[in-house]
Amino acid sequence: MGQEGIKRRFPKWESEGRSRWQTLQIFSNATLPFVTNPDKSNGYEEIVSIFASTRGPDVGASVVSDWAQTLPDGATVLDLGCGTGVPISQALMDRGFNLYGVDASPSMVAAFRTRFPTVPVECAAVEDSDFFGRTFDAVVSWGLFFLLDAEAQRSLIAKVAAVLPRGGRFLFTAPSQCCSWPDALTGRTSISLGYEAYRRIMDAEGLSLVGTHLDECENHYYFAYKK
Ligand SMILES: C[S@@+](CC[C@H](N)C(=O)[O-])C[C@H]1O[C@@H](n2cnc3c(N)ncnc32)[C@H](O)[C@@H]1O
Repeated sequence: MGQEGIKRRFPKWESEGRSRWQTLQIFSNATLPFVTNPDKSNGYEEIVSIFASTRGPDVGASVVSDWAQTLPDGATVLDLGCGTGVPISQALMDRGFNLYGVDASPSMVAAFRTRFPTVPVECAAVEDSDFFGRTFDAVVSWGLFFLLDAEAQRSLIAKVAAVLPRGGRFLFTAPSQCCSWPDALTGRTSISLGYEAYRRIMDAEGLSLVGTHLDECENHYYFAYKK
């Protein structure tokens, strides 16, 4: 059977007594097309407007700003799961850093581009981002890690380590306990590997965990640097 498979017509839906038809492509198992889940945003694309109206406009900004004082002037910073860019990317841009953002939700990225038209932002899953082909002085990731499965989190830490130079900084958020819970907005399962596992994984990838912080809304931050 060829790459394009056999085309057959099947009734798609009945409407007002008339049949509508669609063409299905039938493949043998050996030639099944590779089908990817179009939603790489872990459910956030579906709830963008709810997220935008419920996300605290300042939550995380001051912690990220304080952390940014450790960065060199004009540093390049990658924001993983940047969302609309407010307030995390914005706090860093306000300090004069060169921001790059990546987010898998097309609507989040569209809002980001509207706000910050000159800032490079990629609509992609962090697992596939082209930005891992270059280096950054720092990487920030607020509210993303625990949306990924455990293996994806481990491999993302390795990728972050690979884009940082010696002394490069990394900040991400995830609970200090090893736990899972349903995401408040999407209902999908979130997973934190917990302090000890994150410390070990980072250490194995050449990142040293140098501190943590719990903010007023109970968001837990990990601060690390490349050894
Ligand atoms: C809780 S929101 C945080 C957004 C932003 N960092 C903030 O502080 O407002 C999580 C973000 O991660 C994005 N996201 C989820 N899974 C992703 C993935 N695999 N790759 C890239 N972005 C992802 C979502 O689209 C959403 O914008």
